[in-house]
Amino acid sequence: MASRLFAALYDPVMWLPERWRLTAVRRSLLRQARGRVIELGVGTGLNLPLYPKGAVQGVWAVEPDPWMLARARGRARRSPVPVELVQAEGEKLPFPAASFDTAVVTLVLCSVADPWRAVHELFRVLRPGGTLLVFEHVRSRSPAYRRLQEAVAPAWRRMAAGCRLDQDPEPLIAARFEVVARTYRDGPLPLLTLVARRGR
Ligand SMILES: C[S@@+](CC[C@H](N)C(=O)[O-])C[C@H]1O[C@@H](n2cnc3c(N)ncnc32)[C@H](O)[C@@H]1O
Repeated sequence: MASRLFAALYDPVMWLPERWRLTAVRRSLLRQARGRVIELGVGTGLNLPLYPKGAVQGVWAVEPDPWMLARARGRARRSPVPVELVQAEGEKLPFPAASFDTAVVTLVLCSVADPWRAVHELFRVLRPGGTLLVFEHVRSRSPAYRRLQEAVAPAWRRMAAGCRLDQDPEPLIAARFEVVARTYRDGPLPLLTLVARRGR
């Protein structure tokens, strides 16, 4: 769980990476959001200004941490689409089955205590044919970067509210969803985007 300090530092620390690349990746992924959207682990709400008006009916933005939620409030008010902030954990979503058209997960599965359970919950709350949009940093496919990640991961985990630097969420997602598009960019912080569909 994030702390008050982590929540306060999140936007300043993300400022440069967001301008370098992350906001562009978020924007191109979120362009595909439609209808009723669930966003898991909304954090300070960096995605909220980027949802396409008209295509998105509303965003139910889930976040367990009160300090992150407090920081998301301003962005929720200013979002081009209606946003409801919901304090809950991804492993136990307070929504009925098949209640959303799109699920959004950005830089979250690395912090969720039980990512398998969270992916299962997203499958449950998405309607059949619904879309899962994922953007995560992941374990590198290159041995040299992977060794670097493994060396840094324990300290990173302590500093970044439990974030697993060398996570590999794709097999969890592919076990439940049909992956229809994928991009992977290698480096010391490799970035993966996935578009996946919920089958029937
Ligand atoms: C690195 S931040 C990412 C925030 C935001 N999604 C973004 O793209 O900037 C990870 C977020 O996941 C949240 N989180 C941690 N455990 C969670 C859980 N079990 N269910 C949902 N969100 C969780 C954290 O509180 C934090 O806000």
